[in-house]
Amino acid sequence: MVLPVGNDRTPLSWLDDVAEQRRAAGLRRELRPRTPAPAAIDLASNDYLGLVRHPEVIDGATAALRRWGAGATGSRLVTGTTTEHELLERELAEFVGAESGLVFSSGYTANLGVVTALSGKGSVVISDAGSHASLVDACRLSRARVEVAPHGDRDRLREALATRTEERALVLTDSVFSADGDLAPLREMHRLCREHGAVLIVDEAHGIGVRGDGGRGLVHELGLAGEPDLVVTATLSKSLASQGGVVLGAEKVRAHLIDAARTFIFDTGLAPAAVGAARAALGVLRREPERATAVLERARDLARMTGVDAPESAVVSVVLGDAQRAFDAAQACRERGLHVGCFRPPSVPEGTSRLRLTARATITPDELATIEAILAEILAGAPA
Ligand SMILES: Cc1ncc(COP(=O)(O)O)c(C=O)c1O
Repeated sequence: MVLPVGNDRTPLSWLDDVAEQRRAAGLRRELRPRTPAPAAIDLASNDYLGLVRHPEVIDGATAALRRWGAGATGSRLVTGTTTEHELLERELAEFVGAESGLVFSSGYTANLGVVTALSGKGSVVISDAGSHASLVDACRLSRARVEVAPHGDRDRLREALATRTEERALVLTDSVFSADGDLAPLREMHRLCREHGAVLIVDEAHGIGVRGDGGRGLVHELGLAGEPDLVVTATLSKSLASQGGVVLGAEKVRAHLIDAARTFIFDTGLAPAAVGAARAALGVLRREPERATAVLERARDLARMTGVDAPESAVVSVVLGDAQRAFDAAQACRERGLHVGCFRPPSVPEGTSRLRLTARATITPDELATIEAILAEILAGAPA
């Protein structure tokens, strides 16, 4: 059927309508290039360990760039694998205590790749309601039956596993949830998976560099590293100050992904400079494990300043409720030289729009004092 288009309407006029609705609801998003040298105090980025400008990280990127060129030149299976990629995979696997690792072009493609390759028709995928958008999209692409368990609900997970008719089951969760910064009950989830013959996939995007001994992640902290029925995914773009993603798990999982993960096979390999930067960042973290402790200490400082509970991760979430109110508060911070995140629907549920502050290991005492003064002023004018 051809839809009638009025005189002043075009087939894309609905975009204007939608944009207007978003504007009215305070939900329009804007791209704002950041300044090359940080002019504002950064509490918005994911550079948890403060490594993005570290000289060793820049040198690692530059050396790889000079040696291998600017681009990967092809997919990993054709020309996109360098020895640098393989070293990074081994180093990351060793760091988190996994048997092997496989680097993807992003954390997003790592999640899509591992979930789709380990599921498929005739299997079930059970995902926590708070799982990252990339895991949600992975469910959609999986062709499996998908169940979404309410956030942190172990009873529902047990029931879903026990009553399934499919032989193969995957359970998906973030280790540290990106919006609230809370932790998944990984030990219990893994026990349930073990009891019911399921595989647990844990996204450690916000766990690596922050939780665990020297930043080895929550899986490692809980003694679950190397379990054969557990697979870890991570991004290289947060604590590791670079770009790219990785799947860490059993050697046979890695081998299967190389054969079957479409986002690995049909995607250009990660650029060598990004690989070099991630390797260097990992090297700094190994040498200076206190960076991981410092992130959590700074997060506790931010929580105290904003009157929220002490966080279990680098993410400090200050819920303000209304989307416009959160937007205005973030804007007011920015005008005073403080860059904070602002999460609104659909990133968070309706009525829970918030300032999202991310702690950084390298926040100085002077910066802390400035942050405290600005937040006190802004939050006094925007009570929850
Ligand atoms: C929990 C989580 N998983 C996956 C990703 C995707 O990683 P990437 O940005 O490397 O695609 C992100 C955010 O970026 C994330 O927060």
